[in-house]
Amino acid sequence: TYVVTENCIKCKYTDCVEVCPVDCFHEGPNMLVIDPEECIDCTLCEPECPAEAIFSEDDLPDGQEHFLELNEELSRDWPVLTEKKEPPEDADDWDGKPGKLDMLER
Ligand code: SF4
Ligand code: F3S
Repeated sequence: TYVVTENCIKCKYTDCVEVCPVDCFHEGPNMLVIDPEECIDCTLCEPECPAEAIFSEDDLPDGQEHFLELNEELSRDWPVLTEKKEPPEDADDWDGKPGKLDMLER
């Protein structure tokens, strides 16, 4: 499966949802996650994310491994998103900022 990691938080560009052939992105208040049971590993979403927040589960950066479990957990609670929407106005300011996990809204 592919996994949305920390840098999506407060960026939430949503370019990723447009290319997913199986509609497995789920939307929370300030982040998206992938349902690992639906993802077919097509790889299409990874290059679409301007924040470079999407990785294969086999290729997760150091310290981001726990996002696999978090994607699984949150995709059960959050609704599917299939159409791109406007990102937050300050999305670009948050791109690449460390410590965003503390700001994850559920
Ligand atoms: Fe969807 Fe493909 Fe990305 Fe999986 S790898 S979330 S199937 S676009
Ligand atoms: Fe997040 Fe990147 Fe999609 S910032 S919403 S994973 S395009």
